[in-house]
Amino acid sequence: MLGGLVTAFSLAAYGAGATDPAKVVGPNVCAECHKQEAEAWKDTHHFKTFRDMPRRPKANEIAARMGIARIRSEGLCLTCHYTVQAKENQKLPIAGISCESCHSAGESWIKIHSGFSGKTEKTETKAEKDARLTLATSKGMIRPSSLYQIAKNCFGCHVVPQEDLVNKGGHPAGSDFELVSWSQGEVRHNTWHSKGRQNVPANAARRRMLYLVGLGVELETGLRAVGRATARKLYAFEMAMRVDRARKQLIAAAQAVPNVPEIARMVEFAHSAGLKLNNERSLTAAADSVSKLLASISEKYDGSTMAGLDSLIPGPDKFKGKAREASAVD
Ligand code: HEC
Ligand code: HEC
Ligand code: HEC
Ligand code: HEC
Repeated sequence: MLGGLVTAFSLAAYGAGATDPAKVVGPNVCAECHKQEAEAWKDTHHFKTFRDMPRRPKANEIAARMGIARIRSEGLCLTCHYTVQAKENQKLPIAGISCESCHSAGESWIKIHSGFSGKTEKTETKAEKDARLTLATSKGMIRPSSLYQIAKNCFGCHVVPQEDLVNKGGHPAGSDFELVSWSQGEVRHNTWHSKGRQNVPANAARRRMLYLVGLGVELETGLRAVGRATARKLYAFEMAMRVDRARKQLIAAAQAVPNVPEIARMVEFAHSAGLKLNNERSLTAAADSVSKLLASISEKYDGSTMAGLDSLIPGPDKFKGKAREASAVD
């Protein structure tokens, strides 16, 4: 298994969407109960990248420029293109971007979240259910309701906040990402609570929250990314442009829903630090302030009072890929 031995894998170094390999159970375990969600996942780029990415000529060019001989056995590419599991002192890529890349590594919460407090779905009380889900969350589970954390994961990978990878490796400087359109197409797998009857699209209120929190996390991630910029090259320009674009979109959002004063405050924080090289300390401070506001926005609001945003939110014609149709569970 030498070929699969992961060297130099470090969460801290990259800080992208990576999840703790020692606690990863793998998508097959989730699929034992979540059959439909797993089927939907198998139609996505997230699933296919496991096999496809290393075969692309561009991948080998990027890897070569980064001094990486084996894409699947060295840390850098694994953090964003793979799910890595640690077993018997080895860290192996076991899938592409999978359940735990977004919902977090399952080992500490998998039994809790599905256990109905030792009862059955019917006999568990409401209080027990709430306590169970609170406990699962405290053990790291990222539920769909934890919008801010979900979004942090998406942007942690999709912004590509790594100067060398972009400037030296020639890797794309992130995706043209927007949370509503990118989550409601091929990625959508809301088939659980409908018991497989429907792959339920986010409703209007939730779309507003996805849109707003998505823009905020774009801003936060972008500010941190500019903070890491040391060279007047492509990476610094691209990341600064991201911040600038997110700021403008947030200004429009603040005007559209003046009843949400936190949005204008986010924009103020974003203007408090200069978008320039070697300015990590103040850019990080600005990002931290944005982060606090986002956490409180996602606690305090549910989108119902934000109809003003509707005209700004991309519609179904902009969804990335096609959502899988639900089919009755067998
Ligand atoms: C033994 C069966 C089982 C396994 C294995 C399982 N789940 Fe679940 N999952 C459930 C059940 C049951 C629920 C519904 C719990 C409820 O009603 O509160 C659920 C709910 C969920 C939810 C929705 C929670 C919400 O707030 O709506 C997510 C997300 C989820 N599981 C993710 C996963 C992931 C990721 C894995 C693998 C790491 C996994 N599950 C493995 C049974 C399972
Ligand atoms: C910080 C996360 C991150 C890291 C680290 C990363 N990638 Fe990517 N990669 C992405 C994302 C996100 C995309 C999709 C970009 C888009 O939306 O087009 C991507 C796309 C690609 C593509 C398709 C590019 C194209 O123009 O079609 C290749 C090839 C690729 N990555 C190779 C690599 C290799 C090789 C490594 C390791 C040296 C690596 N990536 C490391 C996030 C990452
Ligand atoms: C790219 C990130 C991502 C991946 C990969 C992912 N999920 Fe999710 N999951 C989400 C998001 C985001 C939502 C909420 C979507 C929404 O509100 O429209 C969600 C919702 C869910 C739900 C609730 C569905 C419902 O009916 O409301 C379950 C259960 C779930 N995921 C399980 C899984 C399982 C199992 C896998 C792997 C087979 C998986 N997820 C892979 C991001 C992801
Ligand atoms: C662990 C890193 C990671 C996380 C977390 C992640 N993505 Fe991705 N995503 C990628 C990479 C890498 C690709 C490109 C895969 C390829 O084509 O090889 C990608 C591709 C996609 C695509 C397909 C884009 C296309 O070219 O059509 C969509 C849509 C997408 N991601 C949405 C999301 C959403 C929504 C979330 C959060 C709910 C999310 N992603 C979270 C890494 C990630």
